[in-house]
Amino acid sequence: MSIAVCLGGLKLKNPVLVASGTFGYTEEFKGFVDLNKIGAVISKTITLEPRQGNAPPRVVETPSGMLNSIGLENDGVKHFIVEKLPFLRKLKTQVIASIAGARAAEYAELAKRLDAAGVLAVELNLSCPNLKSHQSPVIPWRAQASHQKNNQLISQDKKATYGVVKAARKMTKGVIIAKLTPNVTDIAEIAKAAEDAGADSVSLVNTFLAMSIDVNSRRPKLGNITGGLSGPAIKPIALRMVWEAAQKVKIPVIGIGGIMTAEDALEFIIAGATAVEVGTANFINPRVSIEIIEGIKGYIRKHKISNIKNLIGSIEIQ
Ligand SMILES: Cc1cc2nc3c(=O)[nH]c(=O)nc-3n(C[C@H](O)[C@H](O)[C@H](O)COP(=O)(O)O)c2cc1C
Repeated sequence: MSIAVCLGGLKLKNPVLVASGTFGYTEEFKGFVDLNKIGAVISKTITLEPRQGNAPPRVVETPSGMLNSIGLENDGVKHFIVEKLPFLRKLKTQVIASIAGARAAEYAELAKRLDAAGVLAVELNLSCPNLKSHQSPVIPWRAQASHQKNNQLISQDKKATYGVVKAARKMTKGVIIAKLTPNVTDIAEIAKAAEDAGADSVSLVNTFLAMSIDVNSRRPKLGNITGGLSGPAIKPIALRMVWEAAQKVKIPVIGIGGIMTAEDALEFIIAGATAVEVGTANFINPRVSIEIIEGIKGYIRKHKISNIKNLIGSIEIQ
């Protein structure tokens, strides 16, 4: 019985990863979770320079999920390499660095520096505004308030997606995962653009642009007005998008969106995902990824599946 999978050249002992931004830089979780059991850990998105993020409040609960507008708060790539990487290197699990920039050249520079530092894989957070049309020095990682003009995200545009992946591809021999926004009409064609540019894998989805209003003050609950919706509310939509993308590309697809249980993860795998990322669920139960791994093992044992690869994309459609 094997639950090992590969994302391009990156071998994972199991298909469960923790999603960027929901697991800190991992060290914070070491007392709570046996980190070595997780398939791979993905860092909070890193930018070239440190960023303070958006104005508070930055998190709001919703009936079946949460809204956030963190805005890429991070200490920058130098700090990551010097302060965070030494701990991550000691783990017996794969480490993936999530990166974002304002333009293709910044993604390329980040990919180069992380490659030189020995990081084997990067996840390109392509949910950043495409600065070809948006020149603000403050760069939220997700769509900003919808009243702003020209706030297009890189992965809302096929050509921009292609350009950023291609630029990063030239600068790293490591594995490249392109993380896509769901705020598009046809996510499969964006996934194909990433594949054509040389991505080893695509991960989807990031959060859905959303908002919430306090009816007493009539003010938006988030300081940034809009934010990204995650959690169980988005799972059926994310699942549909993963299914669509998996039919369009040959590279492995990573499913993300509202995964709370092993059954949720299995749905994504049956729809065509080679691996899954667990996000919002970590805030409720930091050990949830380990429980999901155990649940997947139980399922494949019960159904006498010798290799999880036989389950990937095994959806039965009459
Ligand atoms: C508080 C918070 C912070 C996040 N930060 C990042 C980030 O830095 N980079 C990124 O690519 N995605 C980020 N995400 C998106 C998640 O990685 C994930 O794609 C999304 O939440 C959907 O998965 P989920 O429903 O399991 O949470 C963040 C999500 C949350 C809730």
